[in-house]
Amino acid sequence: MKIIVIGASGTLGKAVSAEFSARHEIVAVGRKSGDFQADMRDLRSLKSIFEKIGKVDAIVCTAGSVHFGPWVEMTPEKFDIGLRDKLMGQVNAVLVGQEFLNDGGSFTLTSGILSEDPIQYGAAASLVNGALESFVRAAAIELPRGLRINAVSPTVVTESLDSFGPYFRGYKAAPAREVALAYSKSVEGKQTGQVYKVW
Ligand SMILES: NC(=O)c1ccc[n+]([C@@H]2O[C@H](COP(=O)([O-])OP(=O)(O)OC[C@H]3O[C@@H](n4cnc5c(N)ncnc54)[C@H](OP(=O)(O)O)[C@@H]3O)[C@@H](O)[C@H]2O)c1
Repeated sequence: MKIIVIGASGTLGKAVSAEFSARHEIVAVGRKSGDFQADMRDLRSLKSIFEKIGKVDAIVCTAGSVHFGPWVEMTPEKFDIGLRDKLMGQVNAVLVGQEFLNDGGSFTLTSGILSEDPIQYGAAASLVNGALESFVRAAAIELPRGLRINAVSPTVVTESLDSFGPYFRGYKAAPAREVALAYSKSVEGKQTGQVYKVW
């Protein structure tokens, strides 16, 4: 298969690319890194690189930022960071990417454990992750041509504990290579409308 990985240079993206690269052709996308550069907040930049890459069998997204911070300091602008980047960025990848997927091809998006198991400072992340999971369930029933869509909802990744560990006391971390297996199930299996929890 030919697989686009948006966010391929990141902590999760590197593990996902490693999982796929033995069996498939990977096209790495990032804002500044990768084979092609695009900002998924910008529909035109996504369309421009998808046109250059051509038809693919899967589009995987392991990218997207949200603001973490104390509730009392949250503002609409801080919520908007995640809404525009992690939520609408991934929705944009689906809206623009669908015409570049071969029949039966798949999207795999990334949400996260905070959709169901919130932490202090994580209100914006919980909002975005929950919305992404609802989006995946809804899009799955309407996508044409046998196109499929799933989300992977990882717990905190072991490789990210240096940065995020203090926010996730009591949570079991998962190595990125284990999280990557859920992306493989989504892309190489036949399921659709699923949220794969790796907790
Ligand atoms: N790490 C964790 O513990 C964990 C746990 C649960 C969920 N998640 C979720 O998984 C996703 C990836 O996390 P990560 O820790 O692997 O992130 P990361 O290491 O910071 O990597 C992010 C990747 O996404 C790309 N990227 C960021 N914003 C982009 C944009 N607007 N358009 C296109 N590419 C963009 C970056 O490319 P450039 O470097 O070129 O900008 C980079 O390749 C995030 O949505 C995060 O919320 C992570």
